[in-house]
Amino acid sequence: MVQCILCFTLFLTCFIVFSTDAWQGNYEKVVGRLERLTTYCKSFFWWWGCSNWGHYWEIYDTIMIRCRPGWSHNGDNNCNIPICNPVCANGGVCINPNECSCPSISTGPYCKNLTCSYQRPCYPGECVDGSTCTCSPGFSLNSTAKGCITFLGTEERLRPKISQSNVTIKNIRRSDNRINFMFVLEAQDANLSVVWSNQKQFNHLTFEMKAFFDGLENLPKRPLYVYETEMGIAKNIITANVSKLPRSGGQVRDQGTFKEYMCDGGVSRDSPQVESATCILNDYQFMTLIEHGDWLTVEFRSLSGGFQRLVNIDKGGVPYATNYYNGLSVIRTVEFRFDFTAPKHCSEVDNRTCPFGATILDIPDVFNKNPIRPRWLGWTDDPSGVGEYYIEVFKLGINGDRRLVETSPLQPVYSAIIPHTNGAIQYPEYEPSSPGMYSVLLEVRDLSNNTRIARRFVL
Ligand SMILES: *[C@@H]1O[C@H](CO)[C@@H](O)[C@H](O)[C@H]1NC(C)=O
Ligand SMILES: *[C@@H]1O[C@H](CO)[C@@H](O)[C@H](O)[C@H]1NC(C)=O
Ligand SMILES: *[C@@H]1O[C@H](CO)[C@@H](O)[C@H](O)[C@H]1NC(C)=O
Ligand SMILES: *[C@@H]1O[C@H](CO)[C@@H](O)[C@H](O)[C@H]1NC(C)=O
Ligand SMILES: *[C@@H]1O[C@H](CO)[C@@H](O)[C@H](O)[C@H]1NC(C)=O
Ligand SMILES: *[C@@H]1O[C@H](CO)[C@@H](O)[C@H](O)[C@H]1NC(C)=O
Ligand SMILES: *[C@@H]1O[C@H](CO)[C@@H](O)[C@H](O)[C@H]1NC(C)=O
Repeated sequence: MVQCILCFTLFLTCFIVFSTDAWQGNYEKVVGRLERLTTYCKSFFWWWGCSNWGHYWEIYDTIMIRCRPGWSHNGDNNCNIPICNPVCANGGVCINPNECSCPSISTGPYCKNLTCSYQRPCYPGECVDGSTCTCSPGFSLNSTAKGCITFLGTEERLRPKISQSNVTIKNIRRSDNRINFMFVLEAQDANLSVVWSNQKQFNHLTFEMKAFFDGLENLPKRPLYVYETEMGIAKNIITANVSKLPRSGGQVRDQGTFKEYMCDGGVSRDSPQVESATCILNDYQFMTLIEHGDWLTVEFRSLSGGFQRLVNIDKGGVPYATNYYNGLSVIRTVEFRFDFTAPKHCSEVDNRTCPFGATILDIPDVFNKNPIRPRWLGWTDDPSGVGEYYIEVFKLGINGDRRLVETSPLQPVYSAIIPHTNGAIQYPEYEPSSPGMYSVLLEVRDLSNNTRIARRFVL
């Protein structure tokens, strides 16, 4: 009998130690009251056995083992799995009954509130109450997924500035690289600089521009999930646009050659230039037929921008995304307008357009020993307009062939430049020191340096 008890205990021990069904963790024992249908023998038939069976419901107590409320097991009777109801949202992990451990992207009960994080970045800005992003002044929220990456147009310090920009047009003779002509036009301010030109044969353009970026100081400290960020000049572009007189005669100019030049020099939104960026570009092959009336419009454009590299701090800082700032731009424009025709006098075009008293060149009162007072009126130029008048007076003499000539053609006795005005022209006056014959030469210059010459003789 003792042996038998020993043997049973041994069996029980073995059962507890080796059975995977042993309860562990947060379990509890409860006494359960159960009922079972029990059969008994109502009467016996002799010695053979029961002849009549009866049934009754027996009430009995039993000990049940189960997980404590809030815990469960996955079939191994180890009650170490906490239950969160509702389930943890946004990557949260249930660590205790109804207690979630949230990753960096969420907070609050059951991790239902989303925080400022690599998924909802808030930089540069301030994360209010852990979840509402207020961007720093000068920035605005593009979308919750991208954060404060839009530069506001009202913040001029986030707009690049072009400190210098100019274009040089040249004609270079290819055989010996001789510069036949060269013209520099500088864009000085935000206004369009226009210059008229009559140079049609240029074949070389040089663009130079320098842009800088102020940026903002005292930006908030980077949150951990913004691993790296830079702002600056992200792009410099120069375009050359040749437009033509509209063939149809309308207002809209016809499109000619259009070229876009990218300044790289290592400047890009992935490596913005924090202080200044200089761009010098040459186009040695600007072979475009320039015609009368053409405009060459050169645009210098600088764009700010940069990047924010976000890392997933829940996974040890692996790269998560790169967002690019929506920057601001600044444009400077210069324009060459081409005019290859010389000024005209109204009488050559249509006398009806002439103002009262129009004359090509007139020297009134020539016989009265009065000063020489040249007069002219009615000179016009299309499209650049008359710029100035150049007057020269020469003394005449008789040469060996008994012909009247300018005695020193390179040395006028008088010369003057008179600007063209829409009002009264300030006519010059010359009093000859000695009597004789004189010739008066009027050179009419338009703004593109095309000229016409008129001449009169004075006794
Ligand atoms: C979670 O968000 C609710 C409203 O959306 C707010 O009332 C509550 O204060 C937030 N809790 C936390 C911890 O941010
Ligand atoms: C957000 O950024 C995209 C480009 O990244 C831009 O097209 C869009 O206009 C921006 N939206 C706002 C509200 O700034
Ligand atoms: C630019 O042009 C506007 C009008 O066309 C003028 O008022 C302004 O003074 C100009 N700016 C500069 C810097 O010349
Ligand atoms: C043109 O601009 C560059 C810088 O962008 C400057 O170094 C150069 O002196 C300028 N040239 C002229 C003629 O203004
Ligand atoms: C070129 O200039 C003309 C006239 O200013 C303009 O109508 C046209 O749109 C410009 N072309 C481009 C590609 O910018
Ligand atoms: C215009 O008038 C002048 C005289 O005033 C005359 O000599 C000239 O031939 C006229 N020209 C035309 C195109 O009619
Ligand atoms: C205008 O033309 C004259 C001679 O044709 C030249 O000496 C002068 O440099 C020119 N001026 C300009 C601004 O092109």
